[in-house]
Amino acid sequence: MTHTAKSRTLAVLVLIPSLLSATPAVAAPAAPAPERPVAAPAPQPETLAPTPPMGFNNWNAFGCDVSETLIKETADVLVSSGLAAAGYEYVNIDDCWSLRERGPDGRLVPDPVKFPSGISGVADYVHGKGLKLGIYGDAGTATCAGYPGSLGHEEIDARTWADWGVDYLKYDNCNNQSDGSQQDFVRRYTAMRDALDATGRPIVYAICEWGQSQPWTWAAEVGDLWRTTGDISDNWSSVRSIIAQNAPLAPYAGPGNWNDPDMLEIGNGGMTGTEYRTHMSMWAMMAAPLLIGTDLRKATPETLAILGNREIIAIDQDRLGVQGAVVSDRDGLMVLDKPLANGDRAIALYNSTDSLATVSVPVRETGLRRAGAYRLQDVWTGRVSQARSTISAGVPAHGTVVYRVRPLADPATVPPQVALGATVDNLLPGALGENLLTSTVTNRGVGAVRDVRVTVSTPEGWRAAEMSDTARRRLGTDASFETTWALQIPEETPAGRYPITVTTTYRWGGRQRPASTTSEIIGVVFTPPGDGRRHLSTIAPLHSSNALGPVEADQSNGGGAGGDGNLITIGGRVYNRGIGTTAPSELFYLVAGCTHLVTDVGIDDEAPATAPVTFTVHTDDRVVASSGPVSPGAAPVTLTADLTGASGLRLVATGDATGQAHADWAAPILTCGSAGPDDPVLPTERTIFSFESGTEDFTVANPGSGGTVAQTRTFRTEGEHGLTVATPKDGNWFGRTFAEPLDLTGAARLRFDVRAGEVGTVGEFAVQVGPDWAWCQGGLWSWTNPFASRTITEEIDDLSCPAGASLDLSQVRAVWIFLNGGGQVHVDNVRAEYPE
Ligand code: GLA
Repeated sequence: MTHTAKSRTLAVLVLIPSLLSATPAVAAPAAPAPERPVAAPAPQPETLAPTPPMGFNNWNAFGCDVSETLIKETADVLVSSGLAAAGYEYVNIDDCWSLRERGPDGRLVPDPVKFPSGISGVADYVHGKGLKLGIYGDAGTATCAGYPGSLGHEEIDARTWADWGVDYLKYDNCNNQSDGSQQDFVRRYTAMRDALDATGRPIVYAICEWGQSQPWTWAAEVGDLWRTTGDISDNWSSVRSIIAQNAPLAPYAGPGNWNDPDMLEIGNGGMTGTEYRTHMSMWAMMAAPLLIGTDLRKATPETLAILGNREIIAIDQDRLGVQGAVVSDRDGLMVLDKPLANGDRAIALYNSTDSLATVSVPVRETGLRRAGAYRLQDVWTGRVSQARSTISAGVPAHGTVVYRVRPLADPATVPPQVALGATVDNLLPGALGENLLTSTVTNRGVGAVRDVRVTVSTPEGWRAAEMSDTARRRLGTDASFETTWALQIPEETPAGRYPITVTTTYRWGGRQRPASTTSEIIGVVFTPPGDGRRHLSTIAPLHSSNALGPVEADQSNGGGAGGDGNLITIGGRVYNRGIGTTAPSELFYLVAGCTHLVTDVGIDDEAPATAPVTFTVHTDDRVVASSGPVSPGAAPVTLTADLTGASGLRLVATGDATGQAHADWAAPILTCGSAGPDDPVLPTERTIFSFESGTEDFTVANPGSGGTVAQTRTFRTEGEHGLTVATPKDGNWFGRTFAEPLDLTGAARLRFDVRAGEVGTVGEFAVQVGPDWAWCQGGLWSWTNPFASRTITEEIDDLSCPAGASLDLSQVRAVWIFLNGGGQVHVDNVRAEYPE
């Protein structure tokens, strides 16, 4: 009766329904608590998951391709690799393990081909290895892959799993027949909790409803952990967005109540080592379950080293069970602070940006107790250093530095922490310009460092010339030293990203041997575009300045954050390509060899200015086109500029002194080399549905779930018409099958333009391919702003097909988009984009 304590608490919750939607059931401090000696930790409530569960789940690496062999071999490797000894305990089977029909007795039946010994046979094997077995079920009529769900079958399914010797249940949320209310989620997930309790077998209960009903506000009484987000995928933007969603939920976590930001992708190949270490670091700091999601039988030593790092595992598994609190989160740099049972604190410096950054936190903003110095142990390098009052490091792009920190009585014997930051211009090869690199060395330790030197190491053939002193005799505590360098890059260097290493050496204490700190930055080399006509919005400017946040590609400027605009709209005309700025703004491009720029300009309807804006196009030092003053609300103006002979292109938007104006360059097209007006504009696209001739048989995939479509003129990008879609609350797939398969060979991504209705929307893409009409799906785009408009893009590589099926684009049988939210959504120009 492992969940009885929880059941009692739930009864209270049911009596006071307002609790369900209001405050978190588990109160934990929002800010780090001041440090106090931890002599005898408070007794923990009885729970099956006093620390976040660790183990393996087959889904991320194998999808539906699960079998007894895989599970047994994985159990073997867990033990032989030492990962089991490091704490990985559960071997979890995900979706697709059963037959498509229940047995005559109403029980779920393991697929006898995949699991010849049944689940109980596998459980015996796994238990024999000292490990535990997990299974997957669904709080709906069918699982996500269409196998029988447990809604209405909770008792018999829980009993079946318990009889088989299952120790862990992941309980999913597909086909849930829900009215969307939180009460319904609580009811469906509590029904299984009660059924599990009734079996008497201790079974960890993992709620998997993707954060839809804010489970952190109610599930503490129901499950041991709960998913907080949609599915992870093996790429950086997925990991970054999941961290952003899960980190603020720290107050809701505690022993037996874990936020679950989904399973690990480490080892699956879609991210760099730095990114995978961030994945592991941040999951540990967030006290997340650590469920390995890669093929362990083929894992590289690097993958095993990341997954098996005992220091980072100790932070995740610390018995205090506190999720690291967000101390600061600014400009893509986040600091987390996690108290540990022995009185230490884990401090993570996380850099989600695309360049090296110095991430710092004053000790007084953390929960560390006041002391004259602190000992920092880097959990990835093992290096130990000391700092006086600021914890800081140069952190590479997408990287995370994690320190285990404690007060230090005798700093004299420990090397000072020296942080090395650096920035570099966007780089031009040859004589095109001067490329500057600056570095900043800061001594954060107690006591001065001496004989500080900085060196820069570049790719072969480049030269780094000193533009400032590069040595300092002495640098006191918290003092900084800046150096500047000019980089010369050989003429023919291709555009791309190049690593540049900056190193500082210094002596400390009485030591003669210098210590050093190294940081890697990425230099981006720009070259003029090659022959062809291109959307200028797909070319990164060499420099830009903007009055409000970053310049936006293919959307308006929106607010101060990146990616927060709408489709560019001028005088009611909607564009799906262009550059959104806020005047005064300036963009600079390399255009040697280009001949023309044609663009519309105007003030975006999203934030009408009070005064006109003037748009001018400059080549080198000449004005080659100007709009004159364009009034707010006016129709777009078309500019044509001759670029012949120019090496640089400058686009300038100026308002007047009365304030900022959202100034758009709409559908700008750059022509270079021998390209003429009839050449296609790159990247090329093929429209699949334009809705010019009607709804084009666009329809709903699941008629039972509802939804309607109609042609419309109220939202349209290219052409005169778009589509109005009415979605049911839980959404539906919209699209259609083709009489003759469509050949989209070579397409890189799927795109469409959308404007949400009054409740916003979120969705996914799917294509059906090949003779079996295999359903390949992916690319959850989560975005819920009412009335916002956007082009949605999904990389075809990110669509995942069922086991055995391949994404054969030469035989596309159907294209679908999932639209969620309820109410009206507008859609236009569903299309495939091809790489250049
Ligand atoms: C959902 C879950 C995934 C996985 C699949 C299986 O998408 O969130 O983790 O279990 O279903 O179909």
